[in-house]
Amino acid sequence: MMQSVDLLVHSASQLCVVPGPAGPQRGRELGTLGLIEDGTVAVQDGRIVATGPTAELRARYTARHTLDAHGRCVIPGFVDPHTHLPWYGDRANEFEQRLAGASYMEIMAAGGGIMSTVRQTRSATLEALVADNLPRLARMLRHGTTSAEAKTGYGLETAAELKQLEAIVALIERQPVELTATFLPAHAVPAEYQGRTEAYVELVIAEMLPAAAKWMAGRGVRLYCDVFCEEGVFDLAQTRRILEAARALGFGLKLHADEFAGLGGTSLAVELGAVSADHLVQTPPADIAALGRGRTVAVSLPGTPFGLAHRDYTPAGAILNAGGALALATDCNPGTCWCESMQMVIALACRYQGLTQAQALAAATLNAAHAIGRGDEIGSLETGKQADLLILDVADYRQLGYRFGANLVHTVVKRGHVLE
Ligand code: NIG
Ligand code: FE
Repeated sequence: MMQSVDLLVHSASQLCVVPGPAGPQRGRELGTLGLIEDGTVAVQDGRIVATGPTAELRARYTARHTLDAHGRCVIPGFVDPHTHLPWYGDRANEFEQRLAGASYMEIMAAGGGIMSTVRQTRSATLEALVADNLPRLARMLRHGTTSAEAKTGYGLETAAELKQLEAIVALIERQPVELTATFLPAHAVPAEYQGRTEAYVELVIAEMLPAAAKWMAGRGVRLYCDVFCEEGVFDLAQTRRILEAARALGFGLKLHADEFAGLGGTSLAVELGAVSADHLVQTPPADIAALGRGRTVAVSLPGTPFGLAHRDYTPAGAILNAGGALALATDCNPGTCWCESMQMVIALACRYQGLTQAQALAAATLNAAHAIGRGDEIGSLETGKQADLLILDVADYRQLGYRFGANLVHTVVKRGHVLE
């Protein structure tokens, strides 16, 4: 008997399911695509009810809407598990200074950098902050990002950090990209606490985390807590204190680790059961080994060294050899990497981290979903998951990464809704 469904996306030249085991694809498993040639996806109530060969599914299902993906490939929507949305304004002037030879950390030490965006974000109204970020999310969506993470960290005082959380909620309500929220009050030491890092850490623990925990309970939104563990920012001991306090208050944990210096943050993230450790450029061998033992997902952000014109990238091969789970993200932020496209990130990961297109695709979808704790709901085209998928303008997924600088997304489907 024919079963009726809401939507059939049919006749795709390739359907990349990207099947999980129960968790992310670890180590050398990365890149398992579960590819179906001439494939079809059946969708009901925003969820995937079946995937398989077109002939088989067309014999089983009739649909109210159909999308013919003939000559095109279908993949899961991209998940971007590390962005710094929402921020206000830009720092094009600093990019010019960097082109003239100033380093990112020098600009930061001179009161620019993150602090510059903090000043702009603090003075923006909630409405202005939301309005500044809506077009950014619209561009992300057009480039295939159907879910993303969003962080605070440009408030660095309780009220302004909570304003950023409110902005995330408003953005969730006003556009289709689903956002997972992360609280990052320890993103930098604000100017008022210059030279008094310990006092700022105390403020984070005594006032800011409890305020966000109360907000989380009131809003019913689960928050992650993140820290920028870095030389000249927050050291390993301070990072530990903040993350332990956050964990005790019910936050999930994430961590900026090893971006410019390897301080042991990745091992700490694994020890504390963080869902992800992010950046991982200067990661020491012991920390790479720890990733193979723990459940923490390594989130690599190749747009950032590219954005900074640095030479070093995440040692992806070593992480995979150690059995680690690797994901990709943009790090979209106004300082180091204003990149809204996971396709660009895939292109960089293939060139500078030695990933195949298949590995990069799985890292940008299934593993990225696990890096924000949503691997059960999104990131692959498996039965029961949300119907978040992309029809690409190309017949072969291997065009991803190979081609760059143009958008290969033809149609985005989010929770079963055909967006364009
Ligand atoms: O991930 N490293 C810290 N935070 C960002 C940069 C933020 C900024 O410069 O505004 C990053 O690269
Ligand atoms: Fe970041």
